[in-house]
Amino acid sequence: MFSGLSRRARNLSPSPTLALDARTKELQAKGVDVVNLGIGEPDFDTPSHIGDAAVQAIREGFTKYTPATGIPDLKKAVCKKFLEDNGLEYDLSQVVISVGAKQAVYNAVQVLCDEGDEVIVPAPYWVSYTEIIKLAGGIPVEVPSREEAGFKVSAADLEAAIGDRTKILLFNSPNNPSGAVYDRDELLAIADVCLKRGLYIISDEIYEKLVYGGLKHVSIASVRPALKDRTIVINGVSKAFSMTGWRIGFAAGPREAIKAMGDLQGQVTSNPTSISQKAALAALLGPKEPVEAMVREFEKRRNFVVGELNSIPGLRCSTPGGAFYVYPNVSAFIGKKNASGKTIADSADLAEAILQEAAVAVVPGTAFGMDGYVRISYATSMENLRKGIDRLRRFFAALG
Ligand SMILES: Cc1ncc(COP(=O)(O)O)c(C=O)c1O
Repeated sequence: MFSGLSRRARNLSPSPTLALDARTKELQAKGVDVVNLGIGEPDFDTPSHIGDAAVQAIREGFTKYTPATGIPDLKKAVCKKFLEDNGLEYDLSQVVISVGAKQAVYNAVQVLCDEGDEVIVPAPYWVSYTEIIKLAGGIPVEVPSREEAGFKVSAADLEAAIGDRTKILLFNSPNNPSGAVYDRDELLAIADVCLKRGLYIISDEIYEKLVYGGLKHVSIASVRPALKDRTIVINGVSKAFSMTGWRIGFAAGPREAIKAMGDLQGQVTSNPTSISQKAALAALLGPKEPVEAMVREFEKRRNFVVGELNSIPGLRCSTPGGAFYVYPNVSAFIGKKNASGKTIADSADLAEAILQEAAVAVVPGTAFGMDGYVRISYATSMENLRKGIDRLRRFFAALG
């Protein structure tokens, strides 16, 4: 028995969404026909002009180390994106290119958070936030939202959670898993609390482009001029351009914070893949139509999934404004018995029963800090959605 693990490693929980994905693929490899509604990545191919740029980069020998924080051309394109999309003006020294938005979140927390600092995380939240905070020695303080409030926390909810050790708000709109999109007024109220109480903000905006029904994403860093100097904005190409495997994210913010993130990256990973950086450059500067087409398709699927789920007795599903998830309320089924007679105690038990008995993968709300719900991804074909929902319908009917 190996006993050499550090306390840090012993305390680390693996990502539940990655674990579910691995389990689903394992079952599929054994021949079980699992419908995977647990996935967190678009099912579309990366647009071809982006792949072409990567091939060209290889052909031209652009395969060596780049500056650790990314190539200047890509930083320029990122500055242009922030200015045009978010009204945020940064220079190149305020931008770092990282290995996915995940590394940017990790690095931002590492450079802002000291041992014992409290970091506010509105729930439900993306699974990695709390682990990333704990890895930095910080203390995650979860602030629950309510379904009736569209899974959004109010400024008052946040203010009530702020104490002497609170330093950071880790914010995510559009939200994974709920799909909640905060509007400008809601952001203004939250921004003012952060300013009044001297909080810093890490704003994860990776789902920015995936908003529906005419909604517009607003970056919290843009709603008050003073907030830009206290906010690290994180974004990337993974979700908008269907580039999850390319591993390119970026962050922009106060020069000192970005420099520290770059220094950290320089010691840990060096540059993100040179070829992927060229691909991300093509994505940011290239035509917008492929993204618009994906968004239209996602919106169609969202509407279909919400309608179907609401027609299942006992399920209640609100219509999310963004991302590619729905977060239906399954609390009516908690306390029922699964096929082998075991009581379903929480959404984790329910998701397990759904996987075992209905061969559909969904992520339990427990993974996101909010039980009583499951996350269903519609980043899969209509055919899969139909098949998955049919199975869910039969499963829930049998559960009674
Ligand atoms: C809210 C949120 N932030 C960040 C990420 C990570 O993005 P990337 O693949 O660019 O690292 C994800 C991916 O699931 C996410 O849902």
